[in-house]
Amino acid sequence: MKRVLLIIGGGIAAYKCLDLIRRLGERGFAVRCVMTKAAQEFITPLAVGAISNERVATDLFDLEGEREIGHIRLARETDLVVVAPATADLLARMAQGQGNDLATAVLLATRARVLVAPAMNPAMWSHPATQRNVRQLEADGVQFIGPNAGEMAEKGEAGVGRMAEVGEIVARIESLIADNEESASGFGFLNVSGSRAKPEPSLPLAGRHVLVTSGPTHEPIDSVRYIANRSSGKQGHAIAVAARRLGARVTLVTGPVQLADPDGVETHRVETANEMLAAVEAALPADVAVFAAAVADWRVAAPGRGKIKKAPNAGPPQLELVENPDILRTIAKRTSRRPTLVVGFAAETSAVIENAQGKRKSKSVDWIVANDVSEETGVFGGERNRVHLVTPQGVESWPEMSKAEVADALLARAAGFLTEAREQV
Ligand SMILES: Cc1cc2nc3c(=O)[nH]c(=O)nc-3n(C[C@H](O)[C@H](O)[C@H](O)COP(=O)(O)O)c2cc1C
Repeated sequence: MKRVLLIIGGGIAAYKCLDLIRRLGERGFAVRCVMTKAAQEFITPLAVGAISNERVATDLFDLEGEREIGHIRLARETDLVVVAPATADLLARMAQGQGNDLATAVLLATRARVLVAPAMNPAMWSHPATQRNVRQLEADGVQFIGPNAGEMAEKGEAGVGRMAEVGEIVARIESLIADNEESASGFGFLNVSGSRAKPEPSLPLAGRHVLVTSGPTHEPIDSVRYIANRSSGKQGHAIAVAARRLGARVTLVTGPVQLADPDGVETHRVETANEMLAAVEAALPADVAVFAAAVADWRVAAPGRGKIKKAPNAGPPQLELVENPDILRTIAKRTSRRPTLVVGFAAETSAVIENAQGKRKSKSVDWIVANDVSEETGVFGGERNRVHLVTPQGVESWPEMSKAEVADALLARAAGFLTEAREQV
């Protein structure tokens, strides 16, 4: 049985922890809880203890508690430490390495990975001091989920600061624990033979089909030349891998890339935008479709059959360009077999967020992941990415991460979205 140590901070969102504990319990996790003094102003240790079925730890200097399960045991006997809600104050204490209460002493003593779900007023979140603490904690290896954009508990307040939805946190916890197992076993649950692995029922995307496009397209000019772009496919392939790791059946439709087909993922290699659209449509239905490919906007109307020859005094050939199908728009606007969640990528070089917001609305896409691909960012072909997630609720600017981390965060988010959607039916 996998063990999670949940540290509950003193914010309004503390009540959501009761649901978090319940859902983790349903998924077979043993959850032990630590509550800060402030957290006990919002929910009682009695309620937390009743739902987690464990004695709740509240005090560093509790003679009995220390004898039963001392703070060092609490810190050590877990596979993951989750801090939710993480208050601005708790983030500050963590960033400074303080250990003057049970929560921070445990966080200092643990060797397990730490996942933090901040929740606070948008002004507190965007305050330079909080942002400085977040950067410090990221540098220390702490993982973050949220905060999301949306309405605050306080009437009339909205912005970035809402705790990530419980479904998203559960999905991220499962993904981090699956990661731990993968590194411990060398290859985890992936079917290394490359064939489709049996879905793990406890994984957040088990039984789901995730469709991903990746890489550039090549649009022929003649039989030897083509129009291309600098997309490497690294982000799209990382998304396919992350979806597989979360238990999904994954179809990857990729343009020409220098990357190996990911293990356990059904991969279709295509060249042109038209071929990509056909392969995507053939792969439907899907629960989630993530369009990370950099599809060429135009193709040559009538590509040469052989190699177009350079003739003396003839000048360069005149190439007539025609528009390629817009794959993202075509799928997002489908009235039948539209994926539940359609996610597009927007590679922009200016007005990144504004353009992405426009694209999301005009193409009827659910989420857009916008990134700045100007040359100086090194995103095209690079290992890291800095993205903004544009949803109907607002814009979240994520810190710079590796492309694998962006993929993990996005897929955990998608899993949370599907869970919420299922529970609303
Ligand atoms: C009604 C109320 C709601 C609060 N909500 C939050 C919150 O959502 N996020 C936050 O960072 N602090 C919030 N605070 C402030 C924290 O409770 C305070 O900083 C406390 O010292 C945090 O302690 P802890 O980090 O040990 O849990 C709130 C305070 C009050 C009185």
